[in-house]
Amino acid sequence: MKYINIASIPGDGIGPEVMNEGYKVLKALEELHGGLSFERNEFDWNCKRYLEAGEMMPEDGLEILKDYDAILFGAVGAPEVPDHISVWELILPIRRAFQQYVNLRPIKLLKGIESPLRYKSVEDIDFTVIRENTEGEYSNSGGKLHENTPHETVIQNSVFTRYGTERIVKYAFEYAKQKGKNKLSVATKSNAMNYSMPFWDDIVREISKDYPSIPFHLYHIDALAAFFVLKPEEFEVVVASNLFGDILTDLGAAVAGGIGIAPSGNINPEGTYPSMFEPIHGSAPDIAGKGIANPVAQIWSISLMLDHFGYFELAEVVLNAIESVLMKGDNLTPDLGGNASTTELADQIVNKILEG
Ligand code: NAI
Ligand code: MG
Repeated sequence: MKYINIASIPGDGIGPEVMNEGYKVLKALEELHGGLSFERNEFDWNCKRYLEAGEMMPEDGLEILKDYDAILFGAVGAPEVPDHISVWELILPIRRAFQQYVNLRPIKLLKGIESPLRYKSVEDIDFTVIRENTEGEYSNSGGKLHENTPHETVIQNSVFTRYGTERIVKYAFEYAKQKGKNKLSVATKSNAMNYSMPFWDDIVREISKDYPSIPFHLYHIDALAAFFVLKPEEFEVVVASNLFGDILTDLGAAVAGGIGIAPSGNINPEGTYPSMFEPIHGSAPDIAGKGIANPVAQIWSISLMLDHFGYFELAEVVLNAIESVLMKGDNLTPDLGGNASTTELADQIVNKILEG
């Protein structure tokens, strides 16, 4: 028996609702595979805990997580707790401490989902965005001067290190090579950000020498955003800095049919620390408790986790099950135009998985 130890953090709002459906998927996968066991421990690290205990996670939280094989995350955030607390005191420490420097986001229009792009189909929208996840524009570096005076000044620095840039670019080329892709698209803005982006571009050029079979193409971020809408079929793998990747991936999720579907992986490629898999959506307080959240993003995140561990076939089984249920289309959650509950949609996926 192969054991995979998972730390599960359901979080707040719809987080626990979709996580519960994720657990059913893990159980179905165990049944299907026979030789695989997902050992999971659940941690109630969320805003409720913050309101009671004054902290999102215990002081030794990272110490507790570090020996798990993976972290499965739901979503955090509650109206009573400022968002910067839930994010900066739980998600970001995990991403940083565990060197999850790759944010992997499939932008794939699933069969059965209609893209808001009228003329684009599943063949057109199928690529992966690799976003730098630890530095760049989101580096917590800056300061304020002369606050509350007419001379008030704020500075927000971007920090690009050679080490951090090389490793994300290398990962992107390597990912393209492993997945048999023919091209790497690179987000830049070297015409306006005249220190960081020329540096980024130069490192792309250097690393590309090790990957002669994968041509790369630099796009200025503004044009790239437009192409996501106009010509998504151009893309196979896209690599971007933290801020650019953040914006591109939300645009990508929208193009691929919405927030209740899109998954993500926060990957530590070396495997020194656990990687973390989560839907991109938040805790959705507006629909929390109603049992109507779309569970697909959480379930697809499990597929990404399987892919990460090299269980490519099982990852496919999950994705195919999602697609076949979406294609059938008669028991969908309200965000997809139906009136089914979270559980009704998830149960169909679970049943499909059990069929193999
Ligand atoms: P959100 O993603 O929670 O919700 C945006 C809209 O999408 C809402 O109308 C919601 O009902 C809908 N939605 C989201 N997920 C859905 C699903 N699975 N099925 C159906 N509809 C879904 O983003 P919002 O409202 O900006 O943030 C709410 C809270 O979540 C905030 O506290 C925010 O900080 C937090 N958040 C947490 C994230 C995380 O845990 N990684 C990511 C994004 C936001
Ligand atoms: Mg975002």
